[in-house]
Amino acid sequence: MPDLETARLKLRKFTLDDADDLYRIYDNPEVMKYVGNGARTRKETEAGLLSMIQHWQQHDFGMWAVIHQQDHILIGRCGLCFLDKTTEVELGYLFDKFYWGRGLATEASLAALKYGFEVVKLKRIVAVAKPENLASRRVMEKVGMKYEKDAHYYDSDVVYYSITL
Ligand SMILES: CC(C)(COP(=O)(O)OP(=O)(O)OC[C@H]1O[C@@H](n2cnc3c(N)ncnc32)[C@H](O)[C@@H]1OP(=O)(O)O)[C@@H](O)C(=O)NCCC(=O)NCCS
Repeated sequence: MPDLETARLKLRKFTLDDADDLYRIYDNPEVMKYVGNGARTRKETEAGLLSMIQHWQQHDFGMWAVIHQQDHILIGRCGLCFLDKTTEVELGYLFDKFYWGRGLATEASLAALKYGFEVVKLKRIVAVAKPENLASRRVMEKVGMKYEKDAHYYDSDVVYYSITL
């Protein structure tokens, strides 16, 4: 059972069986250009997958596996997690390049924000991106987040956006 459904997507929790699909996405240097240290190995992918599963178990919110309803495949991840070494909650998203530019990150993010405010009862959600990641900044703007400041998280200079209930 998915946790959330949008017009084109299903958002469900990850399982260890998603490693192959996630690795297919994380293996692409273009997708990972502005994320962490770039393309991930299979081992790094498995560690990341486990940490997303554990985040849900520990905090009752986290990153969902995003399933394309028509194509029946895992096309990315979107959801909420703690911002680097803080108690603030961050919106995050990452999609398979084939599915970029169709409004899917915006669609998934709106559902994730609604869940954050209505189910998790958050008062404020933030998002960060490397300044040159214009697609990510545009998604933040399209979901109603506002630029607040330049900041430094995950060992990187970032732009910091927020939305308050
Ligand atoms: C960021 C990302 C999730 C966006 O996914 P998406 O499904 O293509 O997003 P959407 O289609 O909802 O919106 C993208 C917007 O960015 C715009 N955009 C894309 N590339 C752009 C660029 N190089 N410069 C300016 N705007 C750009 C699109 O035109 C669109 O805006 P519009 O609807 O006003 O035309 C996707 O590019 C991705 O997975 N990137 C790699 C992972 C990543 O960087 N994640 C974020 C880390 S902070």
